[in-house]
Amino acid sequence: MEALKCIRTRRSVRKFDGRPVERALIEQVVAAAAYAPSWKNTQIARYIVVTDAEKKQKLADECMLGFAFNQKTASCAPALVVVTMVTGRSGFERDGSFSTTQGTHWQSFDAGIATQTFCLAAHDLGLGTVIMGIFDENKVAELTDVPEGQQVAAILALGYPAEEPMCPKRKDVEALVSFQ
Ligand SMILES: Cc1cc2nc3c(=O)[nH]c(=O)nc-3n(C[C@H](O)[C@H](O)[C@H](O)COP(=O)(O)O)c2cc1C
Repeated sequence: MEALKCIRTRRSVRKFDGRPVERALIEQVVAAAAYAPSWKNTQIARYIVVTDAEKKQKLADECMLGFAFNQKTASCAPALVVVTMVTGRSGFERDGSFSTTQGTHWQSFDAGIATQTFCLAAHDLGLGTVIMGIFDENKVAELTDVPEGQQVAAILALGYPAEEPMCPKRKDVEALVSFQ
């Protein structure tokens, strides 16, 4: 798919058909997401793919702060992807000090770029995703054995779309950009 078309037509998908997503296809998506830019090429984003039905249901039932909307999405997705970030690298010097005045800002920035690259690649390959930001970070980390030194950045629902959502209205270019 042409890049601009892929960017424009990607939607947050919250309904999925019953088909499981092949592991090789998920690996293809991750391979594409690896090309996301990152602070000094530190590549801090990691992906924990949960397809085990029991664990997935636990994520939905126990880790989404009771937010029913996301619980419904998570329950019907054939896979949940816990995006984590290796902490203390992006935006940091080798001695552990911050490289800028923005502290830990850059690690979430990198995880965000990687996540969007993941979502675009998934869309190009016929898969749907939605980023979910409402979850109990500690519970998710415990349930999915997030390694020491990593932090949960986001949870994605992933699957074959069973809906073609309307595009929520976007701001006009004039509202977004200024030239100096
Ligand atoms: C950081 C972040 C957190 C989000 N959290 C949620 C969420 O918890 N649940 C949900 O259904 N959508 C969530 N979304 C999806 C947005 O609602 C969606 O991207 C926005 O409405 C634009 O729609 P589109 O992605 O179809 O273009 C999140 C998106 C981002 C970037």
